[in-house]
Amino acid sequence: MELQKYIRDVQDFPKPGIGFKDITPLLLNNEALTAALNAFIKLVDGQKIDKVVSMESRGFFFGPMIAKEIGAGFVPVRKPGKLPYKTIKQEYALEYGTDVLEMHVDAIQKGDRVLIHDDVLATGGTAEAVVKMVEEAGGIIVQLDFLIDLTFLNGKKKLAGHTVNALIEY
Ligand code: PRP
Ligand code: MG
Repeated sequence: MELQKYIRDVQDFPKPGIGFKDITPLLLNNEALTAALNAFIKLVDGQKIDKVVSMESRGFFFGPMIAKEIGAGFVPVRKPGKLPYKTIKQEYALEYGTDVLEMHVDAIQKGDRVLIHDDVLATGGTAEAVVKMVEEAGGIIVQLDFLIDLTFLNGKKKLAGHTVNALIEY
């Protein structure tokens, strides 16, 4: 299935001059949703994965579904102050300034085989922060799987040395 036709371009969102890739039409259509989920499972190709880690908010659409289908646990990475227990924190760069992501300290066990999932790979700053947290916790990153890679932003460069996949590239 041509998943790309379920991605809607919204001009000038969230700011003038930005072209936003809206994945909600894909989520809305059961055939497209199922095709995307099946494609994510195919990328795992039967490899053993202990934890799927994905980031608030849009990583939560597919992350838990992938985890369920491949027999893994799910780990939410969240924006600051949202997780109730002790956390590992990682700062990352935004267009202007920095932000922080957090993960529970007991979410990843040493030697856990981890798949990182998010909806979009843009500059790679978000994914790089998650890579650092997972590795700090002793996890082994098997691969990073995205729905969309905005390749012109070179996010993969920040993830050098890791296997990075995307179902749709722009
Ligand atoms: C978006 C997107 C990715 C991230 C990619 O999330 O969902 O998580 O940006 O950007 P990067 O590769 O340049 O770091 P955003 O922070 O807008 O939050 P959201 O998922 O809660 O909408
Ligand atoms: Mg996001």
